Amino acid sequence: MNARTFPADFLWGTATAAYQIEGAATEGGRGPSIWDTYSHTPGRTQGGDTGDVACDHYHRWAEDVDHLDRLGVDAYRLSISWPRVQPGGSGPLNPEGVAFYRRLLQALRDRGIRPYVTLYHWDLPQELEDAGGWTDRRTSEAFAEYARHMATELGDLVDAWTTLNEPWCSAYLGYGSGVHAPGRTEPAAALAAVHHLNLAHGLAARAIREVLPGAQVSVTLNLHAIRPADASSAADAEAVRTIDALANRAFLGPMLDGAYPQDLLAGTAHVSDWSFVHDGDLELVRQPLDVLGVNYYSTVTVRHFAGDGERSENDGHGASGHSPWIGVTDVEFVEQPGPYTAMGWNIEPSGLTDLLVGLHRTYPDLPLAVTENGAAFDDELVLDGGVRRVHDDRRVAYLHDHVEALGVARDAGADVRGYFAWSLMDNFEWGYGYSRRFGILHVDYPTGERTWKDSAHWYRRLVTSGELPPVDAVAPWSPGR
Ligand code: FCB
Repeated sequence: MNARTFPADFLWGTATAAYQIEGAATEGGRGPSIWDTYSHTPGRTQGGDTGDVACDHYHRWAEDVDHLDRLGVDAYRLSISWPRVQPGGSGPLNPEGVAFYRRLLQALRDRGIRPYVTLYHWDLPQELEDAGGWTDRRTSEAFAEYARHMATELGDLVDAWTTLNEPWCSAYLGYGSGVHAPGRTEPAAALAAVHHLNLAHGLAARAIREVLPGAQVSVTLNLHAIRPADASSAADAEAVRTIDALANRAFLGPMLDGAYPQDLLAGTAHVSDWSFVHDGDLELVRQPLDVLGVNYYSTVTVRHFAGDGERSENDGHGASGHSPWIGVTDVEFVEQPGPYTAMGWNIEPSGLTDLLVGLHRTYPDLPLAVTENGAAFDDELVLDGGVRRVHDDRRVAYLHDHVEALGVARDAGADVRGYFAWSLMDNFEWGYGYSRRFGILHVDYPTGERTWKDSAHWYRRLVTSGELPPVDAVAPWSPGR
């Protein structure tokens, strides 16, 4: 059988996020974000880990650009730390912060690596949270101003702009279940956050295009691949619809169709009247998208829940006793068949195919990119004849099978133009701290040393050839070969 090949213009990249890698939390004029506050609050993150130092990318960025160059990727998806460039979330910019990103972006361009910049990967300036955070529409307006500033300051160096990363997490985990910053557990506030994030996306997309008329603008969603426990059950199909409304259509609806789904509004009416949606908002939210970013890790399976006993809510996003599924009482999450990653997430590449093909059917003209996909495993650093190696076969298999699944979606007509592996390097995995390693580069946290895992060697082969290598193609690469 011939190896699967991808066209030469298919975009291969890796992804990271500012708070997860930069460190230097109080250096260079950076202000505090909600993740600084949250991670410094006892009991919030595993082991009390914080992003204070992280991968020290703020100081080691040049070395990290070298790694990207050696990997041979076409693009690098990074995020800008809002509190680094605008410490209070409004008001003056911090020139040192802007200069940091200009240096980084320029270094990427010098190597022919296209910067894909996400404006918000969860690090809201603390001052804005103190004034209401995403429950307040002034945060959406502040975000648009910040986006306008970034377009002005960095527009000449950025290839594509992503407004938000996974607003689902920001709203429901941040304000619903509280397992993410700011750690609030207020169901109505979570719905207000959904809307203000949607509004922030629309306002920012418009602001970017006002400054840069030809800008490529996108948003990244963690769309859920939802399956019914019993494919023949009408009640389970209804459970899928309920979760799909909150997880997927709460964002796709306003962003792409200009409306919130009726079933979402009806299903949450006992929690909120949605009066935070003002006249004219929906026209603002719906802005043309050059590409839709999709993050994919695993599937969820749901069933109708009729009883009044204990309801299983294990959707893979951590439990706090407060549900991220606002207003839902008649759905439960069913244990997924394995295998699992170290996150406890099930490995099911066909979920990625289904998601991409489903999106293509609903939005046939919308180009897609997989902006995150990857897996955490308990990696072991070994010395092989004096050479540091990480034989992460399961991560290689995971990446291989998901790139193949993406290829299957393309075969079925989905216009998928890029793939970004999460992550370039091990980093601060939010509530899990440093206990979960997603990198294709291993990071030794005490020293900051980076080591290529087998998955990095394998990925290099994929991105430089455009051909899906077999899973055992992990021989170390050295320059000149
Ligand atoms: C996604 C986040 C990313 C990373 C991966 C594992 O939800 O966008 O920052 O934590 O999960």
